[in-house]
Amino acid sequence: MTLTVTLPTVEDTHAFGRRLAEVLRAGDLLLLTGPLGAGKTALTQGIGAGLGVLGAITSPTFVIARVHRPDPARGGTVALVHADAYRLGDAADPRAEIDDLDLDASVDDSVTVVEWGEGLVEQLVDAHLRVRLDRREDDTRLVELEPVGGDWARRLAALR
Ligand SMILES: Nc1ncnc2c1ncn2[C@@H]1O[C@H](COP(=O)(O)OP(=O)(O)OP(=O)(O)O)[C@@H](O)[C@H]1O
Ligand SMILES: [Mg+2]
Repeated sequence: MTLTVTLPTVEDTHAFGRRLAEVLRAGDLLLLTGPLGAGKTALTQGIGAGLGVLGAITSPTFVIARVHRPDPARGGTVALVHADAYRLGDAADPRAEIDDLDLDASVDDSVTVVEWGEGLVEQLVDAHLRVRLDRREDDTRLVELEPVGGDWARRLAALR
């Protein structure tokens, strides 16, 4: 069972991220897939806004993972760990590089969102949400959410 939503503009993508944040909690892992420029970081920005975390969510040039602490003034209670494994694509042993990030240490207390992490981070927790973004010819985006284990299916149903 997947949930598919059309996102006409980047503002819609931000808004959907904020809605998605409402069902997120510490210990969650979101695996963001889809081609370059599909909107993975844009969606993460919406999630960060919804969670009420500090710091601009950007596409890191060198940094692979960044911790955004919750801002109590905006109702934030849980940190967002945003990782982008794109630059690990060329690494001899990407899995070892991921191990070095020590996501294990933060995953239970944070919402962890990983771009380009397919095949690298699924083992961090026993369930995750797969989020596939695609760009259509008219430049609108399509997001497809696929629950993998845990209670994700029930939580997605709340988003319908
Ligand atoms: N409906 C939309 N949703 C998301 N982004 C959109 C949309 N329409 C246009 N855009 C634009 O597309 C770009 C998406 O960039 P973004 O960095 O989020 O992609 P990405 O998937 O993270 O790419 P990368 O793989 O390089 O990290 C932004 O410049 C954004 O303004
Ligand atoms: Mg990105």
